[in-house]
Amino acid sequence: MLDQAEHILAPVGLPAAPLAAPAAPPGLLGRTRELARLQAVARRAIRGVQLVLVSCDAGGGKTTLLDVFRVAQAAAGWTTALGRCPEADGAPPGWAWREVVEEVLAAHPADPALLARLDNFRTGSGPSAPEQTFWLARAMVDLLTGAAVRERPLLLVLDDLHRADGQTLQLLRSVVEGTGGHRC
Ligand SMILES: Nc1ncnc2c1ncn2[C@@H]1O[C@H](COP(=O)(O)OP(=O)(O)O)[C@@H](O)[C@H]1O
Ligand SMILES: [Mg+2]
Repeated sequence: MLDQAEHILAPVGLPAAPLAAPAAPPGLLGRTRELARLQAVARRAIRGVQLVLVSCDAGGGKTTLLDVFRVAQAAAGWTTALGRCPEADGAPPGWAWREVVEEVLAAHPADPALLARLDNFRTGSGPSAPEQTFWLARAMVDLLTGAAVRERPLLLVLDDLHRADGQTLQLLRSVVEGTGGHRC
């Protein structure tokens, strides 16, 4: 169920004690193996960015599994952020990343200069040309790799990636590259 690509980045801080494999909560049937694999990837994140693709048929339990994993990581001291690719038409381009940026900023307020670089994406129509997307991606990388965010390990979840628009995917590529990984 899990496909994994590893990416190298300067290390982020992790709690000193190894994290226990999350216990599957009541109501979650099975998935202990998948949860353990996600937890193992999280432990490797101490060495750099890890990218995991979770795939299965619709209704197979991707969102449920990642919700459980996200809650477990948050309880273990991680900053977590979730972005969903909307089913409805009309959402601004890159919507999932807008949700991610808001959650990260709520946990780690950024300085005014960085906020200014993100402002059009957060409150306006966002980038309308490839060059603007490039500069937005640079700002997002600066946010995600900034000293404040790196005080704690960070988990980003992009759900329903099969519905992602072009800007969401371009930002994913740029953020992975910009944080030290290579293209997925
Ligand atoms: N491991 C599981 N144990 C119990 N219920 C599950 C499990 N995985 C999924 N479900 C249930 O199945 C339904 C579809 O799961 P969901 O996570 O939304 O699938 P997907 O995101 O892959 O489309 C939901 O009602 C969810 O509560
Ligand atoms: Mg889902």
